[in-house]
Amino acid sequence: MAADDTIPAFSVVSGAAVERALHGRRRELIDLVEHAYRLHGQGDTVNPPSYFLRFPDRPSARIIALPASVGGDVAVDGIKWISSFPTNLALGIPRASALLILNDARTGVPFACLEGSIISAVRTAASAAVAARALVAGRDTPRRVGYIGAGLIARYIHAYLSELDWKVEQYAVHDLDAGYATSFAERVLGGGADVRVHDSAAALIRDSDVVVLATTAATPHLHDPALFAHHPLVLHVSLRDLGEDVVLGAANIVDDVEHVLKANTSVHLTEQRTGHRDFIDGTLYDVLTGAVTVPADRPVIFSPFGLGVLDLVVGATVHRHATDHGDVTTVDGFFHELSRHGAAR
Ligand SMILES: NC(=O)c1ccc[n+]([C@@H]2O[C@H](COP(=O)([O-])OP(=O)(O)OC[C@H]3O[C@@H](n4cnc5c(N)ncnc54)[C@H](O)[C@@H]3O)[C@@H](O)[C@H]2O)c1
Repeated sequence: MAADDTIPAFSVVSGAAVERALHGRRRELIDLVEHAYRLHGQGDTVNPPSYFLRFPDRPSARIIALPASVGGDVAVDGIKWISSFPTNLALGIPRASALLILNDARTGVPFACLEGSIISAVRTAASAAVAARALVAGRDTPRRVGYIGAGLIARYIHAYLSELDWKVEQYAVHDLDAGYATSFAERVLGGGADVRVHDSAAALIRDSDVVVLATTAATPHLHDPALFAHHPLVLHVSLRDLGEDVVLGAANIVDDVEHVLKANTSVHLTEQRTGHRDFIDGTLYDVLTGAVTVPADRPVIFSPFGLGVLDLVVGATVHRHATDHGDVTTVDGFFHELSRHGAAR
């Protein structure tokens, strides 16, 4: 086979094309992300630790590399390279920006570069929805949903939780910045249901059956287990909000035990304090497969570190869809050295 038949075409997929490829497919994407968790649980993935690039002169910033490989019917390798610069909010632009590179599983050749921040937000939101769907089984259907941290991730999570056929009667929001909370209440939660803006996280928690934590808190700020005495489901997407006593008072479900017990997440801090990890009840895969059942008479906390395999699974479907619809920019001749010994003289 000629080299140029073997090398896949290289294409770039813009954010607008990513958005078009994902439009109207939330339920399908929730199922797809559940499929990714199942492949991960079955050992059909490789998901090494993320690498955190940090900067002494910009301590709040980081860029994370998430290399991963997905087998099974997905069969793609790749890497997400995602920046988090919280100071961007003051510039009026999003905190996070990202690229996703897909590599061909047969040759290793990178065949696509996709705008990654929308894919990252979608996989995060879909993963929260997969967990919420599985973890409310055996409980009353949630009627009151509250968001602490009113940013882009909370907006995406709200869109995906709205696919779960819950009969939500009341939404609530709290943010350290009251302006963000009000804007979120009006622009994201507005319409139909009762919408409340709380000036304290504690009041919101007491008033919610499902609590979504999507802040940028670097260290725990919710320490009192009594706030959770009504046994809510807590989607702890931002990972560092809950004090150790809150973690110890709950059933804890994670996406991947080795991953989430790193980088000073609340569960990592709890492991450091107690010297063990017995407070982790299991993974989402364990819940999906029935190996672990979560109690209805305790708070349940889902702490997802965020697996690169989820980005790959969503990225691969975006790339396929965009390619099928002629919505990619192909870069002809991107890989130039295609013969080991050069052209014949
Ligand atoms: N686990 C995962 O897979 C995953 C994936 C993507 C993002 N995240 C995390 O989700 C979080 C939210 O991301 P985003 O893009 O929406 O950020 P964002 O900056 O757009 O919004 C975060 C909001 O949280 C608010 N906030 C900060 N500290 C708070 C506190 N103590 N109490 C209440 N509000 C507070 C900020 O004012 C801001 O409005 C980040 O921590 C990010 O790292 C997790």
